[in-house]
Amino acid sequence: MNRDETLKKLAQLRREGVLGVPKDSMIKSDEQIAGIKESAVINTGVLDYVSQNIKEGITTQDIDDWVRDYTESHGAICAPYHYEGFPKHVCTSIDDVVCHGIPSKKVILKEGMIINVDVSTILNGYFSDASRMFVIGETTAEKQKLVDVCKECLDLGLKQVKPYGRLGDVGYAIEQHAIDNGYKVVRDFGGHGVGLEFHEEPFVYHYGKKNSGCLLVPGMVFTIEPMLNMHKSGVRISAVDGWTAYTKDKMPSAQWEYSVLVTENGYEVLTY
Ligand code: MF3
Ligand code: CO
Repeated sequence: MNRDETLKKLAQLRREGVLGVPKDSMIKSDEQIAGIKESAVINTGVLDYVSQNIKEGITTQDIDDWVRDYTESHGAICAPYHYEGFPKHVCTSIDDVVCHGIPSKKVILKEGMIINVDVSTILNGYFSDASRMFVIGETTAEKQKLVDVCKECLDLGLKQVKPYGRLGDVGYAIEQHAIDNGYKVVRDFGGHGVGLEFHEEPFVYHYGKKNSGCLLVPGMVFTIEPMLNMHKSGVRISAVDGWTAYTKDKMPSAQWEYSVLVTENGYEVLTY
């Protein structure tokens, strides 16, 4: 089905009173999807570069430099840079930082740290977004398990992405796995539509009820990016920089993020 045929089907579903039918603007055309995919290739390349070079002793500013240099040498732009005043090119979130950590010359990676590197790319006006966790050397069993279970949550959420499924199934699968392991899903942040802008509809909850929420339709592109805390879900935003989100209880937090396309048969991960 092309986009026009899909939009006709959505109009019919709305007439039938089906709830949660996405707006037409959330369904990308083949041309737009091709553009987002090109952006996503660079975004994944940046994260591969980081994964090959990250190690004890470097600073988070070094990561910012790598991300900027790789992105710009591939003809693209770092979406975070000056986005709503964000001062750097990438988010680097260590240990009890939940997300939106700001790279700094003063922050040196040390053995046992867990760090999320969140990369977002603009190429020819098309946006892509993904993040990975990295463990510096070896960490404690507790922190390693948090990192691993968070990745499992993302994978379980992803498996729920299917045409004419519901976003609530994604959130439900993520939260159940978190709870089963004694963890809490952060509720203050979620995933988002992505592609023509950095953050689009729908808002992607990482918790939810089965068979509820937005209908998933071929041509939708969005992120799934669960953040897991060890004990309490609460976050506190730094009063100093206005960005860095810390766990309230100072315990570690983990996050993984993919951008995903809903297809006629299931899904396609665009950047990871
Ligand atoms: N990349 C983040 C996300 O997943 C957004 C970061 S906002 C920024 O949505 F300004 F810090 F870049
Ligand atoms: Co995102």
